Formats: sequence, C-alpha cells, structure tokens
Amino acid sequence: MNDLEDYFNKNTGRVITKWSHYFDVYDRHFSKFRGKDIVLLEIGTLHGGSLQMWKHYFGDKAKIYGIDINPNCKEVEEENVTILTGSQSDRKFLQRVKNEIPPIDILIDDGGHTMLQQIVTFEELFDHIKPEGIYLCEDMHTAYWTKFGGGLKRKGSAIEYSKNFIDQLNAYHSEQNSFKENSFTRSVNSLHYYDSILVIEKKPTPKPTNGSTGTLTISEPEKPALKGFDLLKEKARYKVRRRLNRIAGFFSLPLQNGDFI
Ligand SMILES: C[S@@+](CC[C@H](N)C(=O)[O-])C[C@H]1O[C@@H](n2cnc3c(N)ncnc32)[C@H](O)[C@@H]1O
Repeated sequence: MNDLEDYFNKNTGRVITKWSHYFDVYDRHFSKFRGKDIVLLEIGTLHGGSLQMWKHYFGDKAKIYGIDINPNCKEVEEENVTILTGSQSDRKFLQRVKNEIPPIDILIDDGGHTMLQQIVTFEELFDHIKPEGIYLCEDMHTAYWTKFGGGLKRKGSAIEYSKNFIDQLNAYHSEQNSFKENSFTRSVNSLHYYDSILVIEKKPTPKPTNGSTGTLTISEPEKPALKGFDLLKEKARYKVRRRLNRIAGFFSLPLQNGDFI
C-alpha cells in the first residue's frame, strides 16, 4: 500500500472520494514530484479532502489549487491551498485561471466528468502544463455512460477524442501531408491508459532518429534465384503491390486479412 492509499484509508478529516485503484496510478506518476516546489491543480474539490491529501503527500513546498463550480468550496482554503470558483466548461473562466495561477506541474481533472467538461478543460489548460508536467483525467468511464454524454465509440466522447492523441503521438512518422506533427507531438512523451484514467506525460520530444550499432551476426536466408522472365514478373508484382498499398494507405482503406495488399 502506498502513502496516498494509507492516508485515504486512515482519513477521518474532510471527505475524499476516490476509486481504490487510482492510488497506484497516482503514486506511479506523481512520486517523483514529492518534496518539490510544485504547482498542482485539481478540478473538482468537493469537501477539500483530496486537496489536503495532496498537500500531505507532496509536502510544504507544493502550491495546491482547486477549481469548483460550487462557491462554498472556497471555505476549504488554507495555507498553500487556493480555491478558484468557476466552471471547467467555461473557456473564458479557464483563460482567466491561466493568468491567475503559475504553470502547472500536475493537473487532475476530477470535476463534473461530462464529455464537454473534460474536453474543454483539456483544450484550454493543456498548454498551461509545464514542459515536464502531467495531465491526469480521471473517471473517464463516464465516456460509456449515456447520462454523461457517453456511449461505446460515440463520436464526441472524451475517450473517442483522446484516441486522436495516439495518432498525434506518432505523427512524426506520417506519410500523409494532411497529418503532420503538432505541438502535442513535440511536447508529449507518453500516454498511459488505465481503467477510467488517462495520464499524459509531457516532455520535449524532438523527431526521433533511428540507427544500428554492432556487428552483423545472422546471414540472410537464401532466396530461390529467379532468372529471366520470372525475375521480371516478380519485380513487377512487387512494384504493383507497393503502389496499390500506397493508394490504399492514402485513402485509409481497411487492411485485407490484417496484412497490406
Ligand atoms: C467527484 S467530486 C470531486 C471529488 C474530490 N476531488 C475528491 O477527490 O474528494 C466533483 C466536484 O466537481 C464539481 N463540479 C461539477 N461540475 C463542475 C464544473 N462544471 N466545473 C467545476 N467543478 C465542477 C462538483 O461541485 C464537485 O465538487
């Protein structure tokens, strides 16, 4: 059991509401920030118990911010804990937040959990995360709950929206002019999907290079030596296949039997 889970289990103070499997995820991604001079923002503060948990876990140098739509949440402010009142789906409010709080090391979205809220928050605040910071969105299972705007593979759900991050993470390798690297590709090092949680770890990420080192040890398998017309036929077949595959790839046609044409 890690320190966060231990704190949660022993908590008799302000209410904290978390799923039990979240603590491993938090500790895995957050532990390197402990004891450091960090800025943490949690969207959705409720009774303020989770903000106190973060304060305890990260230590006295951490500046903890909470956002909640409920103005009464302001009451849980204390030393190093500041509450901002507003809605996470209000773009203008979030733009003001960026002027009010310093760049963020860790953002936890535990607010209203609707598709719009999760997407707008990402779109407005992701560029306010520091270059080596972390964006964590939790309770993403609402993407499968209709009352939150979800549904399996429903266009516009936060999970469907986030699947584009996978493409963008790999965009340096695109052969299509319509799909190129962007600031997400250049600033994100990895995506971590868990049950209900997506963690985006930032790190300046230039175009990767590929190389080989060492000595060749394995010889190529012998191929039947084709000659004359058979060789020409094989070369032509290979060329046609490659060209067809490029056309199919360009139009994103489905693969045949999992293989290229
Ligand atoms: C799940 S609770 C937060 C729990 C808290 N983080 C904890 O771990 O104990 C969700 C909170 O999000 C707030 N909320 C709901 N809709 C919101 C919105 N549009 N913008 C900001 N906060 C919102 C609610 O008022 C509520 O306090």
